[in-house]
Amino acid sequence: MISRTFWQGKSVLVTGGSSGIGREACRAAAAAGARIGIIARRQPPLDATCSLLSATGAVVETVSCDVVDGPALRAAVATLEDRLGPCDVAIACAGIHRTSWPLDAEAANTVIDVNVKGGINFISTVLPGMLARRHGHVCGVASIAAVVGLPGNAAYCASKAGLVAFLESLRLDCGPRGVRLSTACPGVVDTPMVTDGERTAGRLMTAEAAAAIILRAIERGRAEVWFPRRTWLAARLARSLPTTVRDWILRSQPRLEQAPSDA
Ligand SMILES: NC(=O)c1ccc[n+]([C@@H]2O[C@H](COP(=O)([O-])OP(=O)(O)OC[C@H]3O[C@@H](n4cnc5c(N)ncnc54)[C@H](OP(=O)(O)O)[C@@H]3O)[C@@H](O)[C@H]2O)c1
Repeated sequence: MISRTFWQGKSVLVTGGSSGIGREACRAAAAAGARIGIIARRQPPLDATCSLLSATGAVVETVSCDVVDGPALRAAVATLEDRLGPCDVAIACAGIHRTSWPLDAEAANTVIDVNVKGGINFISTVLPGMLARRHGHVCGVASIAAVVGLPGNAAYCASKAGLVAFLESLRLDCGPRGVRLSTACPGVVDTPMVTDGERTAGRLMTAEAAAAIILRAIERGRAEVWFPRRTWLAARLARSLPTTVRDWILRSQPRLEQAPSDA
């Protein structure tokens, strides 16, 4: 259950808030009384999410922007803060998946650009204001794929491991200055990022459930949240094995992370 006391009246900016986990986070935070600002590239999903939230009486603003474009992102955040007030909670959720096998440099670099540099662009845009106010919470959405390399996922795993390390280090700098940082690491979640094959292969966590876990982690000021626990333990176990055993198992097991949607 999301705490209305925590979210009521807060200005919450979410990259990737027009789909999947980000959209459900926006929905839940809006239902708990937050004012929502959404950044994503495509206008139709932004409009659809805006209509969905507005219909419930929520205050919601959207700006179409690519998180890789630093100057455009700074302008987008400024626009949203003008309309909604200074950002209290920033959720860096925008992300993509592309297969890394066969390896293609352009596709791999795009994954790194969006998932790592896009997160850095967003966080470095909202952080100065939060530090000046000595108030705020930043949450980055990484993945359990950060724990161990997975076949076909070289760039995605690298991007999420990079984001986890980035947030882990930044937390040490921000904590004493009044700004909280959380790292959220889901396993496979039923969103447009997952293929139909993956969806029918197993019971996936819903985006709504994943968003609720992330919002509760923010409320409680948790540094990290890894879920579901079974996937997290499996990944940690794989990490602890000798590499020859680990490689053999990972090559022969179904993937812990979804296959690419390659949208
Ligand atoms: N689904 C899973 O199994 C899973 C598991 C672990 C972690 N995650 C992570 O959770 C986050 C959300 O994923 P999801 O499953 O909810 O995916 P999704 O439904 O595909 O949503 C991705 C969101 O990111 C936005 N986005 C993508 N590239 C962007 C860019 N360059 N600039 C701005 N916005 C961009 C998309 O909108 P536009 O395309 O319109 O820009 C969309 O709003 C991602 O970081 C993902 O890596 C997902």
